[in-house]
Amino acid sequence: MEFYEVIKKRRSIRKYQDKPVEEDKLQRILEAARLAPSAANHQPWEFVVIKTEKIKKEFKKAYDREWFWQAPLVICACGLKNEAWKRFDGKSYLDVDIAIAMDHLILAATAEGLGTCWIAAFNPYEVKRILGLSDDMEPIVLTPLGYPAVSPQPTYRKPLKEIVRRL
Ligand SMILES: Cc1cc2nc3c(=O)[nH]c(=O)nc-3n(C[C@H](O)[C@H](O)[C@H](O)COP(=O)(O)O)c2cc1C
Repeated sequence: MEFYEVIKKRRSIRKYQDKPVEEDKLQRILEAARLAPSAANHQPWEFVVIKTEKIKKEFKKAYDREWFWQAPLVICACGLKNEAWKRFDGKSYLDVDIAIAMDHLILAATAEGLGTCWIAAFNPYEVKRILGLSDDMEPIVLTPLGYPAVSPQPTYRKPLKEIVRRL
């Protein structure tokens, strides 16, 4: 799929088919995340691939939406706090690094014909407990991964003239 077509095609998918994700597709999607740039190339991330069937009951304590658990897989992008690059004023670029890698992953999934949805509104304490994450690891964003059962309309975006200022 052509690059700009992928950008346009990506939607938040909140309904999934009961169909597994092929392993070769999953590998290419994870590889797209691996190739993402990061501040000072620290790559402060780990991606936990969760088979929803295995962990669904327990994980509902962390994010209780029926549609989320229809997808065969969920990916949790975790940030490694101690490995992230920090600027001289102490600002950590962990969230930025994770967002870039996750966007690679999500756009690759779109190019493979798969659906995703960025999820931030989960309970991070429960996710940490259930996945057994160390203190250094922060679950930053989740996405379900599976074949879409809907094709949502594009959502509103502000026009360029509202968001771009040229000097
Ligand atoms: C960082 C981030 C966090 C989000 N968290 C959630 C969430 O917790 N639950 C949800 O249903 N959608 C979530 N979304 C999806 C947004 O609502 C969605 O991207 C936005 O409404 C635009 O729609 P579109 O993705 O279909 O273009 C999140 C998106 C981003 C980028």
